[in-house]
Amino acid sequence: MSKPVDEMNEPRISAEALTQIDAIIEKYPTKPSALMPCLWVIMDELGYVPAGGVAVLVEKLGVSTARVYEVLSFYTMYRTEPQAEHTLQVCHNISCHVMGARTVIAQLEKRLGVRMGENTPDGKFRIEGAECLGACGHGPCLQLGKHLYENLDTGKTDNLLESLRKGDVPRADTDRQLED
Ligand code: FES
Repeated sequence: MSKPVDEMNEPRISAEALTQIDAIIEKYPTKPSALMPCLWVIMDELGYVPAGGVAVLVEKLGVSTARVYEVLSFYTMYRTEPQAEHTLQVCHNISCHVMGARTVIAQLEKRLGVRMGENTPDGKFRIEGAECLGACGHGPCLQLGKHLYENLDTGKTDNLLESLRKGDVPRADTDRQLED
């Protein structure tokens, strides 16, 4: 039997999110096939999927804990730990690499004082490598949530960091989705 989420000293999944999960499950032919959209409900609410969230899905979908972690660990967009305020995902595939991704990554590491895959001590920033972001003709590029910043160089990278430090998310070159 899974523990209630609040006994695990983790953020609580709201009643609204649980209702949303139930509604999603109803739409699928089998409960296990609703796993990915249900993970998104938790991701959207908490920013990651804590152990308590996994336990909720195990119970609601009738799948094993191993199955939930299998999906969570396969797809890089899912998270199992609290995230930095801004996760900068820099494309390091071939087109962006040729166009200077390494320079952008080096600039981010220099300015933030952390390496790829690390969070800054204040929890504000994290730098990650990403596979092709689908903007190969506009590289190097990075993704910040739904925002895609393209044709990066050291100056544009510095401006982006400066804006984020001030609490402004600068206008992106491309937004992945237009409605929230
Ligand atoms: S290689 Fe970077 S967006 Fe495709």
